[in-house]
Amino acid sequence: MGAPRVICTRNNIFYGDIRKAMCEGARTKEEVMEQAGVCGECEGCESELQGVLDSLCGCKGVSMEEVINAVNNGADTVEKVMEETTAGTDCGRCKALIANVIELGR
Ligand code: FES
Ligand code: FES
Repeated sequence: MGAPRVICTRNNIFYGDIRKAMCEGARTKEEVMEQAGVCGECEGCESELQGVLDSLCGCKGVSMEEVINAVNNGADTVEKVMEETTAGTDCGRCKALIANVIELGR
C-alpha cells in the first residue's frame, strides 16, 4: 500500500480519518468537516471529499448509494449487504461502515 493519503492539507486530515468519521455516521461534507476536522476551504479537497463520501467499498467499486438502497430494500445484516452488493467481500475494511449504514438506515 502507498503512503496514507492526505485529504485536507491544511488540517492534516487523512483519508483514514474521513473513513473513521463515516463509520461514526458522517455522510455529508458538513458532517465530515465537523467530525473529522476538514477545513473545507479549498475546492480541490472538497471535490475529493465528495468522492470519498460517495464510495463505500473501494475494492469492489460499490457506492454508498448502492449500499443504502440494499439496506432500504431489506438487507439488514452485513452478510446480506455483502451478498447483494459485493461490498466488503475483498479486504473487508468497509464492513464497519456497512454496519453503520444498517444501524442508521442511511
Ligand atoms: S486544505 Fe482543508 S479542505 Fe482543502
Ligand atoms: S474496501 Fe470493501 S472490501 Fe475492501
